[in-house]
Amino acid sequence: MRLAKYLAHAGVASRRAAETIIAARRVKVDGAVVTDPARDVDDSRSVLVDGRPVHAEGHERVVFALNKPKGVVSTASDPQGRTTVVELVPHRERLYPVGRLDADTTGLILLTNDGELAHRLTHPSFEVPRTYRARVRNAPLKEPALRALREGVELEDGPTAPARVRRLGNDHVELTIHEGRKRQVRRMLEVVGHPVKSLERVAFGPLRLGPLEPGDTRRLTGAELERLRSLR
Ligand code: URA
Repeated sequence: MRLAKYLAHAGVASRRAAETIIAARRVKVDGAVVTDPARDVDDSRSVLVDGRPVHAEGHERVVFALNKPKGVVSTASDPQGRTTVVELVPHRERLYPVGRLDADTTGLILLTNDGELAHRLTHPSFEVPRTYRARVRNAPLKEPALRALREGVELEDGPTAPARVRRLGNDHVELTIHEGRKRQVRRMLEVVGHPVKSLERVAFGPLRLGPLEPGDTRRLTGAELERLRSLR
């Protein structure tokens, strides 16, 4: 198997990120630094990343759901020393967040050691729908604003695709989008005159946040994993 794919299977990083790691001369195969992401490897080889052995076969792939609390960052490490989502999930192996939520956003985020799955779920071509609930300023939310959100609004990085939008109350709205642009929901609501007071993700693809309390985690069931893996 190609080295970059091998590292992704081992849960080291997404395939693309694995290529960067390889190019940075951090990977050794049988004792020698390898910079070619296409090098053919299997578990009979010694593969080290930053000096630590990795194994693509025979390791259990896990996915956890976390209800991310406010103020926790969804990167694997934070230079400012804030708590990371990775620190909130009890697992002996290194896990990687699937995509990002802003530090201020709460709700459902997945973490996994399956780099390949993480890559697929966040790749724009898969268009995995994500559902958010927002409390907004300048209530009440009115029909023209909701319609604009449904049809797509102009952001500085281009127009947004049509969204599913449901008014839940005077200042409460649910949006389902399948693009993952930076601060997208906050920017969409700002553009229609309703800056966000608080934002929560309640669904990611077929998965719902459900009754998880902030800071709590649960391991996905086999049936949920099946549903995630069958997204195309
Ligand atoms: N959109 C946002 O604005 N923030 C998030 O955290 C996620 C989606």
